[in-house]
Amino acid sequence: MNPPSPPDGAENGAVTAPALREQYESGATVAELVTASGLSYGTVINRLREAGTVMRSSWQTRRMRDGKARRNLATRLRRLYEQHGATFTELAQAGAGTRRAARRLLIEAGGMPRTTQQTLRIRTAADATARQKLAVSLRGRYESGASVPELAKECNYSVATVYRLLHQAGTRMRPQHRHGPARTSRTRSWPAQAGPSLVWPRVPVICRRRRGVIPGAAARHAPRPGRCACAPPPTAPDNTPLLSGDRTHVNEFTRHKTLAAAAVDAWDAFVIDVAMLKGGTGKTTSAWFIALYYAVVLGLPTLLLDADATSQSAYDWFKVAKAEGFEIPDNLVVERYPFDDIAEYIRAKRAEFGAIVVDAGGGSAKLFHEAVTEANRLIVPVAPTKIERRKLVATFDEAERAAARNERDVTAHVVLVKADDRTSLPRTAKDRLLQPAQGEGIGPDHDEPFPLAETVIHSWVHYMEAFGEIPTELSEYAALMKELNA
Ligand SMILES: Nc1ncnc2c1ncn2[C@@H]1O[C@H](COP(=O)(O)OP(=O)(O)O)[C@@H](O)[C@H]1O
Ligand SMILES: [Mg+2]
Repeated sequence: MNPPSPPDGAENGAVTAPALREQYESGATVAELVTASGLSYGTVINRLREAGTVMRSSWQTRRMRDGKARRNLATRLRRLYEQHGATFTELAQAGAGTRRAARRLLIEAGGMPRTTQQTLRIRTAADATARQKLAVSLRGRYESGASVPELAKECNYSVATVYRLLHQAGTRMRPQHRHGPARTSRTRSWPAQAGPSLVWPRVPVICRRRRGVIPGAAARHAPRPGRCACAPPPTAPDNTPLLSGDRTHVNEFTRHKTLAAAAVDAWDAFVIDVAMLKGGTGKTTSAWFIALYYAVVLGLPTLLLDADATSQSAYDWFKVAKAEGFEIPDNLVVERYPFDDIAEYIRAKRAEFGAIVVDAGGGSAKLFHEAVTEANRLIVPVAPTKIERRKLVATFDEAERAAARNERDVTAHVVLVKADDRTSLPRTAKDRLLQPAQGEGIGPDHDEPFPLAETVIHSWVHYMEAFGEIPTELSEYAALMKELNA
């Protein structure tokens, strides 16, 4: 008996072009269609094409057939998205492959994509809860006798952060504590080695309560609570959120008034000046990202002060973001104060905020000087070009003169921004900043290295396009602030 003849496309309905397409689209591979139909590989492909079939890659077939794994992945991603506030970028890294695939999988699992503002709110709330837990546990340790420097060392935080957390937990501080590590010298000095920070020690202040004398620079300003080693630290703010997250239509004025009312005299803000005696270096962009770090990541009531005497683009950024419907974090206030008495203004605002970020502009040396007299930290963003490096020298000279009038320690850092690693510029700039030629550095002979932060802010479209938005991805700026606050 002869074997049955192979099926023929003309006679067998299962091998017509539309039938092959239907089987292919329900998950069959071309190889399986070849085996089942007895047709050649080329004929199957030709018939599929004839039927207008969109061909898949083998990877897509695998994903399509592996429905259970896909469902599991989608469920896991939905959980990450909804319970942990993950972003699509994070879901892509967690297995979805791309942001678009992550979105599709989320919808498949019954999830609803959020707006970036909603994501920001979820993350802020999660951060606040974790911080509150930590604050309470630190309070327990402090009350059983641990000192602030010990706690800072134990949990790898800065002393200032531990203080903030203790205040947040409503801790009653013990008297006679010192702010930060013991000082060994009260004379200003330049670091001998290259390092990421330079500290101008504070101008000595003799406390009124101890000696009844306020000499020199201190006489210019009345003493404030929490200022000197023997005064108690500022009282803790109460632990309720300053503004609740569901108040979406708070205008800037109301927001400010409410923040102020909730926090009167509760804080002694940490003041960060983002400044450089030159325009266009990245001050405003840096100031916004840094302010968002303090407000969103650290959850502190934060004031972003636009003190640029010429352009006020930080405030403009805020106006555009508001007009375009971006939700500004409730604990962030943006104001402009481009006047020479900025130091007085900062002093007046210290008690209302946990952090004040000042965009000091580049146009006015006087304003720059005044802002530094009230700063705790000076961050100087500099692009890796010759002209910007040159302006650094004048910037640090002025900053040093201003630091001599500051009653606090001022820590200064240079941060390399707009670095494009495809060129040699960042490498060259780092070398020149850390091993400056005579006249191009800091110190009495202008030959000592600049305090360059290790974290570099790259030249990314993300930063170029950030104006007028509230970025949820603080990326390199979060790393920078962690480095500087460590
Ligand atoms: N990291 C960065 N990468 C690329 N472009 C940047 C970066 N930071 C700032 N810029 C761009 O540089 C320009 C000047 O920035 P800006 O923050 O306004 O500086 P400044 O306030 O010092 O004048 C803007 O066009 C801004 O988008
Ligand atoms: Mg600016």
